[in-house]
Amino acid sequence: MTMKLPAILFWILICANACAGADDKIPLPQARFATGDNSAWKDPDLDDRAWNQINTHDYYENQGYPGYDGYSWYRIHVLIPSSFKTTSHWPQRLRVFLSAIDDADETFFNGVRIGKTGRMPEDPGGYDSQYQAQRDYHLDLHGDVVRWDRDNVIAIRVYDGGGGGGFYKGTPYLKMAEKIEGVRLDTAQATHRFLGTKRLRSTLTVVNSYPVAQVGSIEYEVRDAASGRSLQRHKQPLNMAAMGTSQLQFTTPARPGIEVAYRYRDAATGQQLAVTQVLPYLLTPAQSLQPAIHGASVLGARPTSPLLYRIAATGRAPLRYAVAQLPAGLSLDPKQGVISGSIATRGTYKLELQVSNALGRATRELSIVVGDQIALTPPMGWNSWTAYGVGVSDALMRKAASDLIASGLAAHGWNYVNIDDGWESAQRSADGEISGNERFPDMRALGDYLHARGLKFGIYSSPGAFTCGRYLGTLGHERQDAWAYARWGVDYLKYDLCSYTDTMSKEQTLAEHQKPYQLMGEILRELPRDVNFSLCQYGEKDVWNWGESVGANSWRTTWDVEDNWESVVKIGFSQSPYAKAAGPGHWNDPDTLVLGRLGWGNALHPSRLTPDEQYSQVSLWSLLAAPLLIGNDLSSIDAFTLNLLTNDEVIAINQDRLGQAAQRVFEDQDWQVWVKPLEGGRKAVGVFNLGSQFRTFKLTPAMAGMDRAGKLRDAWRKKDLGAFGEGITVSAPAHGLALLVGR
Ligand code: GLA
Repeated sequence: MTMKLPAILFWILICANACAGADDKIPLPQARFATGDNSAWKDPDLDDRAWNQINTHDYYENQGYPGYDGYSWYRIHVLIPSSFKTTSHWPQRLRVFLSAIDDADETFFNGVRIGKTGRMPEDPGGYDSQYQAQRDYHLDLHGDVVRWDRDNVIAIRVYDGGGGGGFYKGTPYLKMAEKIEGVRLDTAQATHRFLGTKRLRSTLTVVNSYPVAQVGSIEYEVRDAASGRSLQRHKQPLNMAAMGTSQLQFTTPARPGIEVAYRYRDAATGQQLAVTQVLPYLLTPAQSLQPAIHGASVLGARPTSPLLYRIAATGRAPLRYAVAQLPAGLSLDPKQGVISGSIATRGTYKLELQVSNALGRATRELSIVVGDQIALTPPMGWNSWTAYGVGVSDALMRKAASDLIASGLAAHGWNYVNIDDGWESAQRSADGEISGNERFPDMRALGDYLHARGLKFGIYSSPGAFTCGRYLGTLGHERQDAWAYARWGVDYLKYDLCSYTDTMSKEQTLAEHQKPYQLMGEILRELPRDVNFSLCQYGEKDVWNWGESVGANSWRTTWDVEDNWESVVKIGFSQSPYAKAAGPGHWNDPDTLVLGRLGWGNALHPSRLTPDEQYSQVSLWSLLAAPLLIGNDLSSIDAFTLNLLTNDEVIAINQDRLGQAAQRVFEDQDWQVWVKPLEGGRKAVGVFNLGSQFRTFKLTPAMAGMDRAGKLRDAWRKKDLGAFGEGITVSAPAHGLALLVGR
């Protein structure tokens, strides 16, 4: 029998998908691809031989469809041998693992819908991008959907809202599910309750996500990584009903290096699941009830610009606020401790802030420098992106603002409340005005709400026609939009490159990159208010060399940070070369702090960073004099995260008015030492353990460029350590650190 060429290619394609790879997985590296949308394309018997072939691990833009946004279909042909069933002890479910798809998908197996993630523009509720979500669809094998030993078609309808589109993150595959895969040791959702400060009560929920009972046992062992000792070991039967859950509870010491190793064993097969979790511990000592004043001690403002300063102070309520030497034009709200008004004349004004309660009184000097510069210390606050993605709303912004105050964070200097992408209307009005969309009915009212609480109002846009989330950008409306921001009371603009690159030549010159930022920088200076200008162009064209010259107060130096250690290391520990570019009024921005509960608009999950990794990120970003922007859901903030974000000695390193960024002074295989000069000749030193073991390290005065006689203080523990001497031995868990201040 002779085969025609298309038929041969067809069988080669099937083999490419079905014949390679490990025997328990069938990789799916190839697909047929077409742009457009047609419901008939899910049909397994459709003749798609004329469709183009494409791989399933890279954006389609990189495979002959540059700049394509909208609908497209992938059709993956796969021969599934009936012997594949024998690769599982439990041949009842087929897993169709598609990895992540940019942005939304609807997936059919031989014409039967097996899953959908995100929403298409026509769907009720409108477009919802879920580009980061893993697609792990399951097919029940009790039906007859699978054609064993024959060609099967997985048809994936994709909608791409902008940027990269389609498959991009790893090769999809088929796998027979094992029953034990229904068991999840959900350490990310484990809850921890501190009993005092030294002990921790943890609850782990084990979830059975399969409709079949699970019979097995669980063992957990609490270990102390500092001593290498096992502290507790416990084993018990663990049986779960179909779709059931079970809980484990135990109490451990709360200190660095405590971790728990879980192991679940399926009784019938002996198959095992193992997970280790590092447990949280508190370093910041409990706040005194005596009044204390925190936050920046210097504030920049331009003459006549509206000025807003919320005095960051703690102590037992009620606190009373007063200010001595309040310059003409300013007034104080003595209940909230908010200074507002404006100063017409250039100069440096020294005020005395006073905060008192039944237990005493604290005072502190605040300098207001009225001149050309703002952002004299790095901005601190909250941004909506990593919690809510483009699903942000006026209600969520107001809730974040009130939580910032109610949680106590504002009392430590966290005072910006910044909307990221997703607020913009779909269209401009007839006269070209931009407004908020249906989730933002009144931008001005939102600004007033924030200002009434002494909080500052941040907004987001792109110099391009569209933002990264495919909302309207400012292109051609720059001045009009900036004046709208001014009317709404905006204090901070994050200006994100995104689709502006569509306007550039192929070469993308430095001048082309500078142009939109130069333009907006000039416009912002014309406004009757101070707007912190935050460039977001991911460090293109070495922005640290020219950001200041276009009027930027900060510039992103990297791509988006994610809540995993690799991302934090790649971004944070690569900042040393740019240190010199940072200074009062202009800061390097390595993106936000990825701690607390995050979700990017999807279901919230606790940060995937371990507690030590979170201590490291906050410490490193403080040393780098980076803008400190958190982005977690504040309504569910836990004791650990709050403790992490309210250490005034750590924050003071970031807010130091000298404004110098740390540089790396030492590096070996595991350890890095970073030093930040502080006001008055002091220095802050971060000693980071990048290795995977609990270790000790000897830091010498020479290494840090410090004095042997100089006294050291542990910033996290707020504890004096004595003189440096010959050197000091610090210990830190894997990915943890010590943060010292001295001279
Ligand atoms: C880019 C930015 C992010 C966020 C999104 C919004 O990815 O780098 O910080 O602003 O756009 O769409």
